Amino acid sequence: MLVYVNSCPHLGLPLEPLPDRFLDRSGTAVVCSTHGARFRVADGFCVSGPCTGDSLERVPAELRDGVILVPETAGL
Ligand code: FES
Repeated sequence: MLVYVNSCPHLGLPLEPLPDRFLDRSGTAVVCSTHGARFRVADGFCVSGPCTGDSLERVPAELRDGVILVPETAGL
């Protein structure tokens, strides 16, 4: 399971424009609502925008019985 910290590497702001809305229409990119940086869902790499070449911070996670579990050490 892929989980990323909800913080854009450009300015450290939350990514989503609305609660729980992170992806573009194709569902293949996370889009930052502030300046439009686009990140591949598959690896969090920024492919366009002001932080091109940076990446979202990945968090180890596990889906168990419909609940997403992250370690306390993830600091979320
Ligand atoms: S804060 Fe995300 S692209 Fe600028």
